[in-house]
Amino acid sequence: MIAHGEVTVPGDKSITHRALLLAALADGPCTLRSPLAAGDTRSTAAALRRLGVAVGRLADGRAVTVTGGGLRALRRAPGGLDCHNSGTTARLLLGLLAGHEFETRLTGDRSLRRRPMARVTEPLRAMGADIRASDGERLPLTIRGGRLAPLAWRSPVASAQVKTALLFAGLVGGVGVSVTEPVISRDHTERLLRLLGVRVAVEGTTTSIEPVASLPAFEGEIPGDLSSAAYLLAAGVLAESGEVVVRNVGINPTRGGFLRALERMDAVVEVTDRWMSLGEPAATLVARPASLGFLVVEPHEVPSMVDEIPLLACLASRASGTSVFRGVGELRVKESDRLALVASNLAALGVAARTEGDTLFVEGSREPPRGRVTTAGDHRLAMAFGVLGTVPGAAVELDDTRSVAISYPNFIRDMASVLHAS
Ligand code: S3P
Repeated sequence: MIAHGEVTVPGDKSITHRALLLAALADGPCTLRSPLAAGDTRSTAAALRRLGVAVGRLADGRAVTVTGGGLRALRRAPGGLDCHNSGTTARLLLGLLAGHEFETRLTGDRSLRRRPMARVTEPLRAMGADIRASDGERLPLTIRGGRLAPLAWRSPVASAQVKTALLFAGLVGGVGVSVTEPVISRDHTERLLRLLGVRVAVEGTTTSIEPVASLPAFEGEIPGDLSSAAYLLAAGVLAESGEVVVRNVGINPTRGGFLRALERMDAVVEVTDRWMSLGEPAATLVARPASLGFLVVEPHEVPSMVDEIPLLACLASRASGTSVFRGVGELRVKESDRLALVASNLAALGVAARTEGDTLFVEGSREPPRGRVTTAGDHRLAMAFGVLGTVPGAAVELDDTRSVAISYPNFIRDMASVLHAS
């Protein structure tokens, strides 16, 4: 394939969720430009509407206005909330609902109903929320919020969803919260909160906020999603010649492990036109073909590249030598069991890949990947293996590609616009 083209990827998924939720708590109308209009962020927007917040239509290339009613102005949602496939929606909403004195039932699709919620329900109970689950600590759950107590919590997992849910509970509950993680996770929430005048302190891996009386209305441009850009950049790296240019991509370092990993594999992504938006650094990224070396990922790096591990594993299958991903057990509880499925799908394509406990090993190969991939409805698996299908001589058949609508509805169009048959 020849790489040639320029793309602007859709808005960052994590930042769009947070901006929608914080706008709902702000005093008055907030305008968000370039939000992600995709399955997951529509789940958050729809849930907020059911909670009585005026949220405009999320549409590609359009700004959205959210009219916040203040820190504790959500209203009961009779019939409950469906978070569909979005773990971020479920966990962050639990944080907001913990400070509201009514009952809400939350559920999700089959994938989300198997994902662990104890990581947020335990600390929220410790703050004073009443949370009941019928099937272990998983969705469906019923939460009744109330008066909350301050919290100092040590989370066993490095999870920005957990950290954010607890910081949001502190905001709506009007109490101080501090969260200690094993490794610092993505800090989009902290950056937005600081912009809104909240005092956020970070010491080592402990993040604390002080309560505020209100949040001001705000507006801003959401940078493009590095996790979506990663597929285009990877396609540029695997191409035979040319370059792929991706504009306005968020390059927050707590999220940038993918770029650092590529560099260690001898694929340098050029970073130009730096700017800041909503407290986040963004830039234009340019990827060119490279001859890849193997990659070793250590556990402390995983949170900074957690959603890109399937893609890095696919790239590792085209590298020289054996790549090792240590401490990737969290992949088991994402939208699918990504650890098992990455290994089994690579194996189905003729790549020597295996797991040993929480470690994934991938042996690089020169043979073109050929075979059928089971995506289990997981958007990131569909896109990662879709990229692998672009190498010369490949015949990668995906069982389903509709899942890309969860985070990157125009993935197939954008890939086609930057890759051309040689
Ligand atoms: C996200 C954090 C990550 C990531 C997810 C989005 C967020 O999950 O996998 O896609 O927006 O906070 P964890 O923080 O639970 O690892």
